[in-house]
Amino acid sequence: MMNAQTHPWWSEAIVYQVYPRSFADGNGDGIGDLRGLIEKLPYLEDLGVDAVWLTPFYPSPLADGGYDVADYCDVDPRIGTLQEFDQLLQITKNHNIRVIIDLVPNHCSASHPLFQAALAAKPGSAERGLFIFRDGRGPGGDQPPNNWPSNFGGPAWTRVGDGQWYLHLFDSGQPDWDWRNPEVRQMFEKIIRFWLDRGVAGLRVDVAHGMFKEPGLPDLAVPERSNRPNAYTHRPEIHELYRTWRAILDSYDPDAFPGARTAVGEVWADSPPTLQPYLAPGGLPQVFNFELITSDWKAASIKAAVDATLALAGGSRAPWVLGNHDVLRPVTRLGGPARARAAALLLLALPGSAYVYQGEELGLPEVLDLPDAARQDPRFFRTKGKARGRDGCRIPLPWSPAGPSYGFSRTDNGASPAPPWLPQPEGWGAYSAEAERPDPDSFYNLYRAALRLRRSHPALGLGRPRGTGTVRWLDAPPDALVFGRDPGFVFAANLGDDPLPLPPHEEVLLASSPLVSSDGAPDGALPPDGAAWLAAAPAPVPPTVCQMRTRAG
Ligand code: NOJ
Repeated sequence: MMNAQTHPWWSEAIVYQVYPRSFADGNGDGIGDLRGLIEKLPYLEDLGVDAVWLTPFYPSPLADGGYDVADYCDVDPRIGTLQEFDQLLQITKNHNIRVIIDLVPNHCSASHPLFQAALAAKPGSAERGLFIFRDGRGPGGDQPPNNWPSNFGGPAWTRVGDGQWYLHLFDSGQPDWDWRNPEVRQMFEKIIRFWLDRGVAGLRVDVAHGMFKEPGLPDLAVPERSNRPNAYTHRPEIHELYRTWRAILDSYDPDAFPGARTAVGEVWADSPPTLQPYLAPGGLPQVFNFELITSDWKAASIKAAVDATLALAGGSRAPWVLGNHDVLRPVTRLGGPARARAAALLLLALPGSAYVYQGEELGLPEVLDLPDAARQDPRFFRTKGKARGRDGCRIPLPWSPAGPSYGFSRTDNGASPAPPWLPQPEGWGAYSAEAERPDPDSFYNLYRAALRLRRSHPALGLGRPRGTGTVRWLDAPPDALVFGRDPGFVFAANLGDDPLPLPPHEEVLLASSPLVSSDGAPDGALPPDGAAWLAAAPAPVPPTVCQMRTRAG
């Protein structure tokens, strides 16, 4: 029987990631905003998503696209107001869509009033104690306190006027909080309650494997970025903190909309076992598994990634994801639209929950030729252009085939909108929702059809009865992925170079590419990089103990 406690809404939700500045602009200033998002909610409802995750919309000087938060309890005026946020919550509720917000606890903005106060205060003061200030090494203290690198390039330390250094694992505009200071904890508890009280359904926790640093801040043996546990990632102290957050989440009534509150940690791990401690009972409800992002397009790698994740947690507690605002868009990363379409069918056929980044449903490619002058990502600047950065997956969405900013910006009075904050490439309108909706073979209609089937097919999502669904690998050539889910569902993908005869089935429910004919495959075959959802005869039910006794006489 359905149970909201053991199988809450989030355990099989499709969550759509909105990057607010690039989703839709409702006031013509070239920057996406809450008004634009509210206007596009019917689109998201038609697509069939259960929730939206909004990346940071807080006041910010935008040293890192808003992940440098200057005020955790407000909305950046370029994006909207708190009243509009409440309006968004009310309207999404009417559409039965939940809202997840991004909590950024590892660091704030250098313009946060508490960091400004720390800069103005003396070394050793309580103000500095909220952050990680240290004296430097070497004569005159002019060397950073240790050899930690910033995730964006260069050292993780910046020197201030009085000679001390502060730690920033990301940009110098993002000073790290000191999570060993109880005041930081108390402040974040208030922030979490502030948003949960307004009605948000959950939190996406930024850098959820960060926050605690090893006491003494020792040098790294190899001063390189890595997803392995080290002196500032995957520290065991973090789990006690998450238990306190879980208690806050669980203190909200799970029987009233938006249901059991969730928190999904952004945990980049070198391997699924590193995720294990995050999934201990009483900790964060969920952590992302990025296995489908880090896997290459090989059947053996993907199969191993799926197995490892399922063995660890299942997709409910470790939702699947193909892309986000930090990585190359799947069309480009995987090597073309056919693969991205096949990957989408894989994503949505796996047990549990999945996240879809805005524009994936339109098949947007990464924009690789953005002029340097337009780039905004601190990674580009801190690596002196060696790393292109992440702007190419954050280009404002096209909504119309033509017209100013391809319909991204709307003005009330017919005036021309300002250019979008990142330039869109020529031909972007071909990917617009308006262009794709009438085309039955478009990316949009593939996603829409898959999301509809996912709701209605008893084997998909968690499986029915709830929570019973798992993946049963079926015999297949080494470059194919073929699995069954009960009752009566088969997924097949062809990652090889030759057509793959369809496995036994009763009906093709959905295919990412047109089927081809092939010798010895009377029902058709999947072309290379194609995938299909098939209806199969339900697997025979194993005999019950009574039946076995009867048969045995
Ligand atoms: C992860 C976010 O997804 C990314 O965009 C950001 O730059 C870093 N955390 C730092 O907040």
